[in-house]
Amino acid sequence: MDIQTLCNEWDELNREYAELEECNRRNIELLEQLHQHQQKCFNEIKHQRYRMNQISASMRQYKGPVEGEEKEKLDNLLKMSLKRKAQLHEIEQSLPARSGRYLQIILGDVNVSILNRNDKVRYKDDYEKFKLILNVIGLIMAFFNLIFNYRALELAFIFLLVWYYCTLTIRESILKVNGSRIKGWWRAHHFISTVAAGVLLVWPQGEHWQLFRLQFMYFNVYISIVQYLQFGYQKGLLYRLKALGERHNMDITIEGFHSWMWRGLSFLLPFLFIGYAFQAYNAWTLFKLAYYPPDAPWHVSVMCGLFLLLFVGNITTTLLVVPEKIRERAKERYRLQSMGKSMKLRKEMKNSASDLDLSTSSQAASAATTPTAAQPTTTTPTSAAAAAASATATATPTPTPTATATPTPTPAEKKAN
Ligand code: COA
Repeated sequence: MDIQTLCNEWDELNREYAELEECNRRNIELLEQLHQHQQKCFNEIKHQRYRMNQISASMRQYKGPVEGEEKEKLDNLLKMSLKRKAQLHEIEQSLPARSGRYLQIILGDVNVSILNRNDKVRYKDDYEKFKLILNVIGLIMAFFNLIFNYRALELAFIFLLVWYYCTLTIRESILKVNGSRIKGWWRAHHFISTVAAGVLLVWPQGEHWQLFRLQFMYFNVYISIVQYLQFGYQKGLLYRLKALGERHNMDITIEGFHSWMWRGLSFLLPFLFIGYAFQAYNAWTLFKLAYYPPDAPWHVSVMCGLFLLLFVGNITTTLLVVPEKIRERAKERYRLQSMGKSMKLRKEMKNSASDLDLSTSSQAASAATTPTAAQPTTTTPTSAAAAAASATATATPTPTPTATATPTPTPAEKKAN
């Protein structure tokens, strides 16, 4: 290649770089706009919550029996307030959230928010798959430990448990930041399990350990099987959640979600309760071991306490799940409705953005075939900007004075904020 050709190539590269700079400038501009929109959404959510609290407080002042039309209006207000709460929660799912203290300590001050409902569902799916894979590995290792009594194999298995539960606590904290309703107990359960696995790791080999060892391995085999069943249940729920954003009739998918959930729960619960009985039995065995044979190491009583704690916490939380689900049926319905709408909206926006992208690139392609179009490809930045603009346009509600203007906080509201 002669030097002139190289210079020409460089000039062409320069032209392309100018486009890249323009694209970057537009990107920064959009990020700035995004930040402003996010702040506005935060303010409006705060305002909505403040007004709702005021209305709810006034509603509570209605004393004595309310009849006829008034009762109907009151019920309607209650229903609408439940619905609005679900809608606000769903809007928050597209906004960044701060990490909790645990994540800040482990990961530092990094943003772990996932701003797209579909990506959140995908992340949850990934979490369930991670649990499944580790459970299969755990099952195989526990099984080998039942056959062979090698210290190295045993330690490898227990070390895997420490790592697994530790990782779960991190993943669950990320899920929590991203709006998961995972109960505090299940997270605490995984912290306690990490501690328990740590104690097992330093439990010295001796008579007490040998007496408990087989029972512990059988327990792990059983838990792995139960966790496989749990995976089937959660996977089924996730599959139906994804369907929410794909079907035209959302009512059908909500019904499908609920009927699957109840069927899944009634299948799963007996296995869970057997698992809890096994935990209580472990605590009982360790309690006896703490006294006989004599000179039990401290690990025996600590493990006894931890198994007892897990048993009590698990059984209480699981027993509360069913009545809570029955009580909060209406709330759950509104939550699913809002979630389905948000997933649908995202999908439509994505489709319209890619349609726009396609049509712009086909225009550019046809222009490129004409002799005047000697320029290198310019579609990417323009179409990306257009797609982003269209996405913003779809996301922003039709500007009505009430919808777009940031609400002016009342003096009382300012004080409350
Ligand atoms: N671990 C992690 N996440 C859990 C969980 C658990 N044990 N139990 C529930 N969750 C999550 C759900 O996936 C859901 O997440 P989302 O908000 O991101 O969708 C959220 O917490 C709320 O779930 P909820 O509606 O209360 O319950 P569910 O119908 O999803 O599950 C059970 C109910 C009882 C099946 C479930 O809690 C469970 O499997 N518990 C048993 C766990 C256990 O005891 N393990 C030890 C075995 S001996």
